[in-house]
Amino acid sequence: MSERTLSHEQLDTPALLVDLAATDRNIERLLARFRGGPVAVRPHLKTVKSPRFAQRLLAAGASGVCVAKLSEAEVMAAAGVEDILITTELAGAPKLARLVALLREHSQVKVVVDSAAVADGLDRALAGAGLIAEVLLDLDVGQHRCGVLPGRPALELARELRSRPSLRLIGVQGYEGHLQLCADATARERQCRDALAMLADTAQALRADGHEIRIVTTGGTGTALICKTCPGITEVQPGSFVFMDAAYRRVLGNLYEPALRVLTTVISRPRPGEAVVDAGLKSLSTDSGFAEPKHHPDMAYRPAGDEHGILAWDPLRRGEASAPELVVGDRLELIPSHIDTTVNLHDEYHVSVDGRAYQVWPVSARGKVQ
Ligand SMILES: Cc1ncc(COP(=O)(O)O)c(C=O)c1O
Repeated sequence: MSERTLSHEQLDTPALLVDLAATDRNIERLLARFRGGPVAVRPHLKTVKSPRFAQRLLAAGASGVCVAKLSEAEVMAAAGVEDILITTELAGAPKLARLVALLREHSQVKVVVDSAAVADGLDRALAGAGLIAEVLLDLDVGQHRCGVLPGRPALELARELRSRPSLRLIGVQGYEGHLQLCADATARERQCRDALAMLADTAQALRADGHEIRIVTTGGTGTALICKTCPGITEVQPGSFVFMDAAYRRVLGNLYEPALRVLTTVISRPRPGEAVVDAGLKSLSTDSGFAEPKHHPDMAYRPAGDEHGILAWDPLRRGEASAPELVVGDRLELIPSHIDTTVNLHDEYHVSVDGRAYQVWPVSARGKVQ
């Protein structure tokens, strides 16, 4: 595949930079811990939003992939990724029509249900097209987002699926998203084990009731290694570990490397102790706090509007008056606080292969939120 390559000097800003070697080390670090074991890795592509990175994950041994949205599944399927679990409930006629079109060409796309209403919508749309979809029950194991409750409510919903001939129940999903960023590692592990026991027990109860449950899927970057040791779990679905971000680094330390940065340029030095850069709210998300300057731990970044950001430091402590360190045109790297929402702001990755040249890779599923 021919691709654009830029030197560091040619990069315009703000720009997403990816250290490919660090990305591959992150992938290997996680995948190696699962290789040869009973628990598969089905990485969540809501983070990378790119088939290029999906292929690297599959080449490293991922068993399949997750996406959050149907439109992300469309992008991945068009690029040749087949075993795709859409982890969010699908509802509404436009979405169901798109699912039917996708399933006609890609029969390994799997969906989740947490209610009879969602199941009915799927069943009607698929029956009209003569299709059958593999389905997982989505359980609420404590996050309190979507999900049917474990135990009896899940059992009753599974029984209802028997009368929907276009849905084939093959598994359960229970994502403990509320625990991923729990800073207390002991509490995270204890609560994760409790949550996953509910998931595994429900899977067993469904099997005892005659359902063929072969997938029990769970886990994110903060819990994947815990999930691996929990009985009854068949796969994990972490996503952020590929690039890591500042929020996860505060919790997991150096388990994975920050492999993605936003390159920004100083565009103004209006006051001592502050530099204005060209990366604001449209370049870096703030739902998990602010980005961190990579090489300047004594500086703090904050957004200053949609297109501006401010780097601030103590001018007295750094002796700014005699030795100002930043001038207009200087470039700095910022580590995003939350990767997923930051990546979705950009059209292109600039992928550093040898530390000098940057290949331009599209963020193909950027803006794919449907
Ligand atoms: C259902 C589901 N599974 C897995 C993940 C992956 O989590 P992370 O990116 O924190 O590894 C997410 C992230 O939001 C998710 O929503």
